[in-house]
Amino acid sequence: MILGDRDSICVVVPTRNESGNIETLVTRLDTSLSDQTAEILFVDDSTDTTPDRIREVAGEFDRTVRLIHRTGPDRTGGLGGAVLAGLRETDADWVVVMDGDLQHPPEVAFELVTTGIATGADVVVASRYAGTGSADGLASPVRAAVSGWATTLAKVTFPRRLADCSDPMSGFFAVRRSSVDLDRLRPQGFKVLLEIFARTPRLQVAEVGFEFQDRHSGESKASLREGLLYARRLASLRAATIFGRRSAAVAKIAGFAAVGATGILANSLALWFVFSVLHLDLLVAAVLATQVSTTWNFILTDRLVFTGSKRGSTWSRFLGFAVVN
Ligand code: GDD
Ligand code: MN
Repeated sequence: MILGDRDSICVVVPTRNESGNIETLVTRLDTSLSDQTAEILFVDDSTDTTPDRIREVAGEFDRTVRLIHRTGPDRTGGLGGAVLAGLRETDADWVVVMDGDLQHPPEVAFELVTTGIATGADVVVASRYAGTGSADGLASPVRAAVSGWATTLAKVTFPRRLADCSDPMSGFFAVRRSSVDLDRLRPQGFKVLLEIFARTPRLQVAEVGFEFQDRHSGESKASLREGLLYARRLASLRAATIFGRRSAAVAKIAGFAAVGATGILANSLALWFVFSVLHLDLLVAAVLATQVSTTWNFILTDRLVFTGSKRGSTWSRFLGFAVVN
């Protein structure tokens, strides 16, 4: 299938220390894209010789192979930030996002775009869990289990937006660039596709099954830290889509209310203890119980709800809190 002028393609490849993979990747992509108007754009955050390797390899092909090399403070958002930088850089109609380590077979890249054109979809996800897909290339059973859990968690959090997507964790997909508002994306770290789904209502989704391969060379950059970041990210994404720009304030109010509810419990317990167990006067018991619940509320609020930068010492904040109470 040869595509029309309005179907130009850019393959965005985020890379971090992948020098051993560049040549094979570009060779296989170049072959499978054959006569298409398609460029390859690396967005690289490497600290090794990967950018040099990309420039060398680029010279060996007729196809346009471009490089954005981000250094130091420019490496915002890690992998997700790199993908967004690529999406902003190109004006192609279709952008394919894929890993640079050949775990995503380059031959599937073009199929994602033709599927999008044939079905009218906005996003075509290369899925490990659809059709003939498989996740066998995941490094370990632990990694596979974590990935499965992450997928379930995402689908529970966004049941409607992810209804047609079996693999929201996939880092391999094609997107019709005009269908997403790039200014709304705030990708951090690994889960770019999820960010696109969460921030874009009414996306038409199609899928192509694929077999997740073993890494060609080098090592994975996924980490426990990425995993923990993921859970937090999911929660704040959900809050953002419900409450829009007010989501941070809403989260604080909800936290404050939750602490208040536990405070009522603490107050009742203290009252019962002082009045019924210690047999003190009811008025004295009420005053003491109030001190207990105020202190309780202060500690939880100060530690869990207002976690940002704080003014004054803990004691002065406590005094202010107690007076207001
Ligand atoms: N520019 C840039 N900056 N690229 C990065 C960064 C970064 O900070 N971190 C990783 N990359 C690149 C890698 O060089 C590679 O090309 C790609 O992003 C994926 O990174 P890997 O380290 O190979 O990730 P993985 O194989 O563990 O995870 C992949 O599979 C997951 C599914 O299990 C990714 O595709 C995930 O997005 C996907 O969820
Ligand atoms: Mn990988």
